[in-house]
Amino acid sequence: MTEAELQQRIGQYKFYHTIKVTDAVSTLGVPEHALSQQPVLAEINKLDLAGKKVLDVGCRDGLYSFLAERCGAAEIVGIDHDLSLGAVELLIPYLNSKVRMHQMNLLDLKPETFGQFDVVIFAGVLYHLRYPFWSLKLLRDVMRPGSMMVLETAVFYGQDKFPMLYCPTEDNGPYESTSCTFFNRQGLTETLESLGFKVHSSSVLHPAAEGKPCTGNSPVVDRAVFVCEYLAHHEGTVLEDYWTGLHTLKTQDGGNAASVKKNAQLS
Ligand SMILES: C[S@@+](CC[C@H](N)C(=O)[O-])C[C@H]1O[C@@H](n2cnc3c(N)ncnc32)[C@H](O)[C@@H]1O
Repeated sequence: MTEAELQQRIGQYKFYHTIKVTDAVSTLGVPEHALSQQPVLAEINKLDLAGKKVLDVGCRDGLYSFLAERCGAAEIVGIDHDLSLGAVELLIPYLNSKVRMHQMNLLDLKPETFGQFDVVIFAGVLYHLRYPFWSLKLLRDVMRPGSMMVLETAVFYGQDKFPMLYCPTEDNGPYESTSCTFFNRQGLTETLESLGFKVHSSSVLHPAAEGKPCTGNSPVVDRAVFVCEYLAHHEGTVLEDYWTGLHTLKTQDGGNAASVKKNAQLS
């Protein structure tokens, strides 16, 4: 295919990511998203991906999947519930890429679907999810102990004293109505830790805005990248069993909350 033909084929699809396909030809992505993509690309570049198995959740056109491949990953699985035809029909074959994209909802992800992963890229998705804690648990369940996750999402400022989740619905939120889940930095850090992750770093796009009290009608929203390692989770502890509905098997009085709290503190 000549570059002119490639350019013409690219024009037949709608792309979200700007992806360099040859020195002269790139997909025409949405430019305003480039700012929040740069820190993700930088964090992926810092990881040792040689020979690793990578999962890219909400992969869209594959910007991060293709980078993982260039960084030496052995296997790259992308899932998205709205599969990018431009990536599947044009980019992957043209680049002779080993990235494999599947139309799939994250909520359907199971360890037996693709096995366990060494690296998970989870960017630009969490704030769209109505079931964020469960989604993070599902991801945790497909990660090997010692595996890494690069998580990029929108966070909110103005209530930094406590671990918080701001969950606007309909048109009350800072983004459009599909965006319903905004942790503050502490809230996401503690959530990740409660699921067995160690947060190695978290950084925000506009640090000067963080820490200022909320003065307007809605919180200020920024973007953050968390780099975390899945260490181990606490299956079988009273707390984990309580959260997953198995506590009656463990508590002596049929799941009395006070007893659970006491047991959790003792364990
Ligand atoms: C804002 S885009 C971000 C794309 C890319 N990860 C990035 O950061 O540039 C969100 C992507 O996640 C996908 N997505 C949202 N919810 C999903 C879910 N529950 N399961 C799978 N994909 C999902 C959307 O279809 C979309 O392609």
